[in-house]
Parts: sequence; structure tokens; C-alpha cells
Amino acid sequence: MAIIDLKDALTRGQRTKGSVCITQTPQVRSGKKNDFMVGRFVNQDQDVEFKIWDEYIYGQVLEYGTGVYQADVEGSEFNGQQYLTVHRIEPELDPAIKKEDFLEKVPSDNIMLMWKEIRKQLTALGVKQECWNLIDAIINAPELEGRFMTEGAAVSHHDSLIGGLVHHTLKMLRILITLVKNNDYLKDHVDLLTMGVFLHDIGKVFEYNELEMGPYWYANHRVRGIEYVSKFKDDIIAAYNEAFYRQLQSIIIGHHGEFGDRPTTVAAGIVHYIDTVESQVTELIDLEKKSSDKKIYIRDWGYLAGLDY
Ligand SMILES: [Fe+2]
Ligand SMILES: [Fe+2]
Repeated sequence: MAIIDLKDALTRGQRTKGSVCITQTPQVRSGKKNDFMVGRFVNQDQDVEFKIWDEYIYGQVLEYGTGVYQADVEGSEFNGQQYLTVHRIEPELDPAIKKEDFLEKVPSDNIMLMWKEIRKQLTALGVKQECWNLIDAIINAPELEGRFMTEGAAVSHHDSLIGGLVHHTLKMLRILITLVKNNDYLKDHVDLLTMGVFLHDIGKVFEYNELEMGPYWYANHRVRGIEYVSKFKDDIIAAYNEAFYRQLQSIIIGHHGEFGDRPTTVAAGIVHYIDTVESQVTELIDLEKKSSDKKIYIRDWGYLAGLDY
């Protein structure tokens, strides 16, 4: 059976049968009469709320968790909010339909083109060959199984798509290039900043698993990043010195700014600013694209009108 076009299925009163995918554990809430389940189905750029009113139906989802299901849904609306009412849902039995069929991907040709261009520009700004050799060795180490290239940058925020982590990293490097061009002083430190941007989120390969929280998500990606990069400590110190390695650690620890361990070096502060600009702008654009009325809600600011004029 086909994958359900979620936007199409929202048409009020319309019944649709087909495959759906749940990537985040739905919630069970208590209602006036009974408990009910609220969750989200995703398919490529579509992300639609569903509700299940009967426990004997949502029991299947509680038992099997996230993944691909066969469902019978009905387009519904309450107080202007559209959602899908689920009348039947069972785990997908057709092995040909996989979770990755539902997940949005950054086209890998785009990634390769960006990568080549960025490497050329950063080399022109002074990044040394030994810096590239270390970066290549760290992100392509066999134990990562190529996942730096496929994992998402987030589960529910910016760049939550296959290849999102490398895409987020490359977009940050483009911002770094501009900052280095604007500030000659940074040219002497371009190896540290380049390696810092490349590795700041490397621990997400362990925190997440195919855009879901990994089993040990609670030891966050900053801790896992420090742990992973420590395997290359001797190589990094041999190419530079211990201070360079400790500065790199400070970038991984402090890159969330006031939302984590505070930055303790200027390098960590710079990477935090680049990370914030890149992820927040991407998120604003994603929210606007997904909004049906081009109006978005930001917790600290309230409603924002879209870019149309
Ligand atoms: Fe991060
Ligand atoms: Fe990041």
C-alpha cells in the first residue's frame, strides 16, 4: 500500500489508508472521558498531528513505539486546527517500506559541491594540509560508519533530515569564511576555528540514531564529542600542541553558550555565535515554509509574520 500524502489526507471528512511514519514517541493525555494519544506523522517535508481516541487502537503504538505503520486516517478539524483522526493503526508488514523512505534528505550532490568549494576557500585563507588530514581522519573513522554524513543535526529542530548534521556544519563553515575575511586577526587561527566547527557537533552521531534519540542521549553530544575526539589526542598534539587540543575541547564544551557550559575561550564564543546564527535562521525559514498561514510562533517573541509582502 502507498505512503499517505499527509497534507492531502487532512481534507476534512476524507478517509485515507496507507503507510505512515512516527519518529517521536507520541504522548498519552487525559481527556474529559478517556485518555487519548497525540503524536505526529512525518513524510518528507510534511509533519502532521494525529489523534487516537481509543485505547485499544493506540495500544499498538505504545507497544511498538516509533517506526512505520499501516493506518486508516480521517481528516479532522477542531478550533481551526487540522489533524488526522486514526481509526486503525498496525505495524507495517511490507519490508519494502522503510523509515528512511519517509525522512527528508539533503541531496548528496549539493553536499559534495559545498564541501569542495568550502575546502578550497578555507585553504586559500590559510587552513593547512595537516588540519585537513586530521579532520578527514576524525570524521571518516570506520567506527562512525559514515554517519557524520547521514545523521540529522537535530531530532525536532533545525536540519532534522538525513545529512542534516554535515549540512549544518558546512553552512557554519561558510559563515566562518565570511568572518575570517572580515577580521584579518582570525587568519592566524583559522585551523583551530575550522576544526572546531567541523567537530563541535560530532557527538550527535552518538546522541542520535537515524533522527531519533539514541539509547544514551542523556550523556549529551558535547560529552560524547569530547570522548570521541580524545581518541585523536596524540595526533592533534603532534600536529599542533597541547594548547590547541585544549582549545578544541573548549569549543566542543562551550558551543551552546548560556544554554550549556558557558564558553571559556574566544574560540568557543565565536563557534557559539556561528552555531546560533546558522541554526536559528534555518529554523525560522523551516517554520515559515511549514506554516499554512505564513505566520509563525516563537516562544520568546510571540507571532512573526512571514517574508511575503
Ligand atoms: Fe550542539
Ligand atoms: Fe551545531
